[in-house]
Amino acid sequence: MTTPSLTSSHRPADTRQVRSMFDAIAPTYDLLNSVLSGGMHRIWERALVGSVPTSPTGRCLDLCTGTGALVPRLTRKFQTVVGADISPRMLQVARSRFESLPQVEWVEADAQRLPFDDASFDCVTVSYGIRNVPNLELGLSEMRRVVKPGGTIAILEFGTPRNPLWRWLFSMYSTYIIPFVGGALSGQRGAYEYLPTTAAAFPCGDVFEGLLVNAGFVPCVTRRLMGGIAYIYVAKRSIEGIGR
Ligand SMILES: C[S@@+](CC[C@H](N)C(=O)[O-])C[C@H]1O[C@@H](n2cnc3c(N)ncnc32)[C@H](O)[C@@H]1O
Repeated sequence: MTTPSLTSSHRPADTRQVRSMFDAIAPTYDLLNSVLSGGMHRIWERALVGSVPTSPTGRCLDLCTGTGALVPRLTRKFQTVVGADISPRMLQVARSRFESLPQVEWVEADAQRLPFDDASFDCVTVSYGIRNVPNLELGLSEMRRVVKPGGTIAILEFGTPRNPLWRWLFSMYSTYIIPFVGGALSGQRGAYEYLPTTAAAFPCGDVFEGLLVNAGFVPCVTRRLMGGIAYIYVAKRSIEGIGR
C-alpha cells in the first residue's frame, strides 16, 4: 500500500465556492442524482450503509449529508443520526424530506472544523462528499477525532475505472452527458462540470487507502463498484489513545 501525499490537483475550489455551488443546485439535486446515475446511487448507498455495524444505542454522523440520502437507512441501525453539511439549502431540503424522523439532528458544519466532541460517534459515513472537502487531510483527521477508538468510518466516493475502454466510456459520459443534462435540468452547468473534474482527479483504491492509514485509520474493506466508477471504503479508527 502506498503512503501518498496530496497534490493541488486533488483539491476542489475553496469552501465558500463549494457551499454556494451546492446551495444553487439543492432544489434539483435529488432529481438529477436519479437521472444521471440511472438509480445506481440508491444501490451503492444501500451497500454503504449495509457495510457498517449496527449499534442500536449508538450515534452516527453522516458527514456531507446533502439532502440526507443515507439518513433513513442509518436510523434503522443507530439510535441517533446527525446529518452535517456545509450547505444550508441542501440541509433545508433534507429537513423537509425527513421531518418525520425523530432521532435525526441536522447541523450546518464544515467537515474541516467539526463542532462535535472528541470520540462522540460510533460511526461516521460520507457519500460522494469527501472529494469536495478542500483540505482532505484535515477532513479525515476531523473524522478520526470525532469517531470513537475502534469506531467505523464508511466512505462512498467516485473513482477512476482501471480498464482503459471502460475509463474512456465513463469519461465521455462525465465530460459531455453529465454537464449537458445537469445544466439543462438545474440551470447550473458549471456545477455539473465540477463533478467529473473532481471525480477524475480524486485518489482512489490503494492510494486512498494510503491516505486513510496516514490519517490514523485501519482499512478493513474496500469495494470497487462497476469496475471502479465508485469505491466503498470501510475503516476503523485505531484503538491506541486519542493521539496517534
Ligand atoms: C455530492 S453531495 C452528496 C450529498 C449526499 N451525501 C448524497 O449522497 O447525496 C456533496 C455534499 O457535500 C457537502 N460539502 C462539501 N464540502 C463540505 C464541507 N467542507 N463540509 C461539509 N459538507 C461539505 C455539499 O454541501 C454537498 O451537500
